[in-house]
Amino acid sequence: MTPTAYIEAHKDRFISELLDLLRIPSVSADPAFSGDVLRAADYIARKLRDAGADNVEICPTAGYPIVYGEKITDASLPTVLMYGHYDVQPADPYELWNSPPFEPVIQDGNIYARGACDDKGQLYMHLKAFEMMMQQGQLPCNVKFMIEGEEEVGSNNLGIFVRQNKERLQADVIIISDTGMIANDIPSITSGLRGLSYHEVEVTGPSRDLHSGLYGGAVANPINILCKMIASLHDENNHITIPGFYDNVEELSAEERAEMAKAPFNLEAYKQALNLSDVHGEVGYTTNERNSIRPTLDVNGIWGGYTSEGAKTVIPSKAFAKISMRLVPNQTSEEITEKFQKHFTSIAPPSVKVAVRPHHGGEPVVTPTNSVAYQAASKAFEQAFGKKPIPVRSGGSIPIVAMFKSELNLDTVLMGFGLDSDAIHSPNEHYGIFNYLKGIETIPYFYKYYAEMSK
Ligand code: BES
Ligand code: MN
Ligand code: MN
Repeated sequence: MTPTAYIEAHKDRFISELLDLLRIPSVSADPAFSGDVLRAADYIARKLRDAGADNVEICPTAGYPIVYGEKITDASLPTVLMYGHYDVQPADPYELWNSPPFEPVIQDGNIYARGACDDKGQLYMHLKAFEMMMQQGQLPCNVKFMIEGEEEVGSNNLGIFVRQNKERLQADVIIISDTGMIANDIPSITSGLRGLSYHEVEVTGPSRDLHSGLYGGAVANPINILCKMIASLHDENNHITIPGFYDNVEELSAEERAEMAKAPFNLEAYKQALNLSDVHGEVGYTTNERNSIRPTLDVNGIWGGYTSEGAKTVIPSKAFAKISMRLVPNQTSEEITEKFQKHFTSIAPPSVKVAVRPHHGGEPVVTPTNSVAYQAASKAFEQAFGKKPIPVRSGGSIPIVAMFKSELNLDTVLMGFGLDSDAIHSPNEHYGIFNYLKGIETIPYFYKYYAEMSK
């Protein structure tokens, strides 16, 4: 049977198994869901075994477990290490979903559920592609699966697991489907990811909330101060003002930027999709450059004071914000964390106290596009989509990818099948059934070409 015939014959089951996985609310950020996160790990382990993997194990960590499984058929064949994550982002705000986030529905060719694309739908393609290769007796490479449950909260325990299991994780290449492509008729392969430096800041004014009439004007309002501090982090050209922030930023050559600009992009459609009257960003760079090869600083949340019904006249004691920076080669999260901390503390007026608490970080990566693995992925996409994919650097982060390089000395191929419009991390996340099935078709082609081209 050809891959397409096998997929046609089994697609209803492929979809219903994914829907079962999507019904498990494996939200890693919220301890209220811890039992569900563990159930998702069990489900993945069971399905890996069913598909034919050996040595399937639910490896405990200090946090959520890592599901491992493998099929080693011949030491002379190349070994592919697949990575994915079974945890998902929180689903709130629930009221903005058109159907409940953990009761998947299919509408207009899309599966709607939290995790449909990021990353359950995409990781499950690998399990079904593996099942298909096993059933057809056509597994051309050895394969190892490593699927974690803490990607959305920084992968701290996976880092430890990787360092402790270097032997077991030996491979020739990593493959990950946890990114996107330009469009269903414009296939692309992700060739880079940004890093991340994430902080929570706390500004304290008076030791208690104060009457804003009795004290207003005479003591610092920490919310006013925090807003001013945050506003000062960008200048009038939307450059980031932290001293030394750009010191190590890799500047692309004019040729590289011209190459990037060849990727199809429609600014009007982009604005329309987000209902924007205009885009915004660093002067001197295009939208696609701003969201991939340039570093950024964003407030993810800000709170403090009185926010319930009606008016309360108060000068709050404290104000808070979560601030993240996306990093590009050759910035490091350590360097930027230090520079941010130092700068943010230094710009506070003497009337307030400031605390900066760093959260997880991650390093940026650029993946090679001249490797055998990349070429094999390119041929696989070409065969499945009928078009040669273009390499595109993405703005998102998958912190473990840089560690695969630094700890295992392995390059990664980021063969993602999502679309920007899939609304990952947002209400009404969805994944196209076309993309799901195309992924299942493309992956075995990758194995085939990778084995052939590695000889
Ligand atoms: N799969 C995403 C990252 C992604 C999505 C990269 C689309 C490229 C294209 C991943 O699950 C994610 O959300 N990562 C987080 C970082 C993490 C440390 C919370 C991110 O990018 O915000
Ligand atoms: Mn993901
Ligand atoms: Mn995510």
